[in-house]
Amino acid sequence: MRVLSGIQPTGNLHLGNYLGAIRNWVRMQDEMDADSQCFFFLADMHSITVHEGREQRIRNVRDMAAALVASGIDPDRSVLFNQARVPAHAELAWLLNGTARIGWLNRMTQFKDKAGKDREGASVGLFVYPVLQAADILLYQATHVPVGEDQKQHLELSRDIATKFNTDFGVDVFTLPAPIIPKESARIMSLRDGTAKMSKSDPSDMSRINLTDEDDAIMTKVKKAKTDPEPLPETAEGLAGRPEATNLVGIYATLSNSTPDAVCAQFAGKGFGAFKPALGELLVETLRPMRERFVELRTDDAALDAILDKGAAKAAAAAEPTLRAAYDAMGLMR
Ligand code: AMP
Ligand code: TRP
Repeated sequence: MRVLSGIQPTGNLHLGNYLGAIRNWVRMQDEMDADSQCFFFLADMHSITVHEGREQRIRNVRDMAAALVASGIDPDRSVLFNQARVPAHAELAWLLNGTARIGWLNRMTQFKDKAGKDREGASVGLFVYPVLQAADILLYQATHVPVGEDQKQHLELSRDIATKFNTDFGVDVFTLPAPIIPKESARIMSLRDGTAKMSKSDPSDMSRINLTDEDDAIMTKVKKAKTDPEPLPETAEGLAGRPEATNLVGIYATLSNSTPDAVCAQFAGKGFGAFKPALGELLVETLRPMRERFVELRTDDAALDAILDKGAAKAAAAAEPTLRAAYDAMGLMR
């Protein structure tokens, strides 16, 4: 098993990122056997599709690296790096540009969403983003790629590119990757609106729990979270039509490795006045050790950079045979 996944280093990590993505990575890492390996990287080369100043981009990469380590990614067991330190990503992406079809990219819903109405004004990078993502995955012969539902289409594109390349050049250079999409795909919603995703771009800080929030801030945010006046129902069915209640019960269930049904059974008949402090406590206990580790890691840029350097050296070595085979299959002599 070769597990690989990437995350854009966009700053301001929140509970949604942790429960929706990072926690799944940590689990996969912790379940690995001796012949398997995990590659986790910061997609900083993808992040050029959003304009950012130099200093901020540097900070974002270190923030995300620290957050991953603080959340349990162990750089000695997993290969942890940022794309920019491994030029093979950009190189393979260029080679794959010969294989990917404009028609395929035109169907990508993430491009349509992100480009919005002004397609002509979108960067070329945003359009070919999924080709770089395919290179990320195919370089390492990844078999399992843990991602959110929204990345399923990009994974299918990676398979199409791999298949076409192998067929066109009559080789077997690339392995077809499979997406791993968690069953109870944790989708954490805003604390102010149960129908909107918890997001770093929400102008209200009260809408999200940041990985850097102190204990009392977490408690205040949970206590002020929007709810309804009804008590908690006996089963999760009774949460229908109550998006805020559904979200809070869902967060409790996810954090306690339980189910919404079991959480409802535990709190049935109680109001949010009783439920919220319990949820706040659970959040505080879960996030405190991560925050403390994060703050400590963030005091030492050189140590963080050394972690990424070491990971990049391992990644480059793992990528080299595939990159060489791709150049060779195309008759490009390096
Ligand atoms: P973003 O910074 O929005 O690109 O998200 C980075 C990762 O966190 C992606 O894998 C997202 O699927 C995940 N993520 C972001 N927001 C949420 C959320 N509210 N609930 C669950 N997962 C999320
Ligand atoms: N596009 C992914 C996202 O927005 C991030 C990503 C980049 C990725 N390269 C990847 C995910 C390779 C999995 C594999 O979440």
